[in-house]
Amino acid sequence: MSAIKCPPGIKVFNKIADFRQWRRSLLLEQKTLGYVPTMGALHQGHLALVTAAKKRCDHVALTVFVNPAQFAPTEDLSTYPRTLQSDLEKLASLGPGVTSAVLVPQVHEMYPAGIELDVSKQKGTFVEVLGLSQQLEGTTRPNFFRGVATVVSKFLNIVQPEHAFFGQKDIQQCFVIRDMIRDLHIPTKMHICPTVREESGLALSSRNVFLSPSQKKYALVLSQSLKHMESLYRSGTRDASTLLQAGIHLIENARKQVQETEDWELKLDYVSINSAKDLNEIKGDVPKEDGCVISMAVYVGKTRLIDNICLDVELDD
Ligand code: PAF
Repeated sequence: MSAIKCPPGIKVFNKIADFRQWRRSLLLEQKTLGYVPTMGALHQGHLALVTAAKKRCDHVALTVFVNPAQFAPTEDLSTYPRTLQSDLEKLASLGPGVTSAVLVPQVHEMYPAGIELDVSKQKGTFVEVLGLSQQLEGTTRPNFFRGVATVVSKFLNIVQPEHAFFGQKDIQQCFVIRDMIRDLHIPTKMHICPTVREESGLALSSRNVFLSPSQKKYALVLSQSLKHMESLYRSGTRDASTLLQAGIHLIENARKQVQETEDWELKLDYVSINSAKDLNEIKGDVPKEDGCVISMAVYVGKTRLIDNICLDVELDD
C-alpha cells in the first residue's frame, strides 16, 4: 500500500475500520453514497458505473478486491490482473470529486476464518442464492456465485451504500445479487447498467488483456452471434432452439476458421436462452411478456469470455 500514490481527492483505505469511519462522516453530513464493487483492472465499463453512481449520489466509493472465494482451484486467481496504481489514475481521470473513496482490503480482513479455494475445506460464513446459481455460468463454475454473493454481502455490509451499481455484462451475477439484496433485506438499491463495448462490439472485460490480436478478432463472434439472434427475434422468430441454432452456426464457423488458421482453439462453452424472471431455460417459444436473456461463454484460446443480451427486459428503473 505504501508504494501506491493516491491521486488528490481520492481517499484510499486498506483497513475496514478506517473506511467505516469515513462512511459515518457522510451519514452525519446527510450525504448519499453510491457503490461500485470491482476486482480492479478497471476499464471503461467500470468507469461508466462510477459515472452512473455519481449522477445519483453525492459520493462514490469503490472496492478493489480480487475475491479468492469466487475462483475455483483450477482458475486464474494468481494471474488475475492487479493494477491498483493505474486503476486509481483512471478514477482520477474522471475528474475531481467523482470518486471519493476506494477500499482495498486485505484478504485476511475480508475472510477472518481464512479462505481456501477448495470449498470442502472452507470455514466461516458463506452466502448462497439458491435457484439462480447452478445454471449457465454455474454449470462450469459451480461455486462462483457463492463466492460472489458472499463477498458482495460483506461489502454491502461494510460500505452501506444507498445505491450499488453493477454491469449487465455479468447478467447472472446481477440476478443473483438482486435476489440476495431482496432476501437479506439489505437497504441498498441496485442498478444494472448497460454493457460497455468496444466499437467492434467486443464487450469490455478485465480478461480481454489476455487476448492476442488474432484472438481479439475472433472474440467478436460472441457479440456478432448475439446480435444475429437478436435481429431474428426482432423480426419475429420466437422459437428458442431456432434462435440458438442460428447463433451456434456462427460460432461453429469461427471455430472451424480458427482450427484451420491458428495454433489455439475457439470453443463454445454454452449458449442459452433463459427467462428474465427466474433464469429457467426457455424451451419452445420465448414468451414476450417475461422477456429473455440470451447468454453465452466461449473459450478464445485459454481465455473464457462471456456476453449476453436481454430482450424485452427492463433491467433498471
Ligand atoms: O463483477 C466483479 O468484478 C466481481 O464479481 C465482484 C462483483 C466485484 C465481486 O467480487
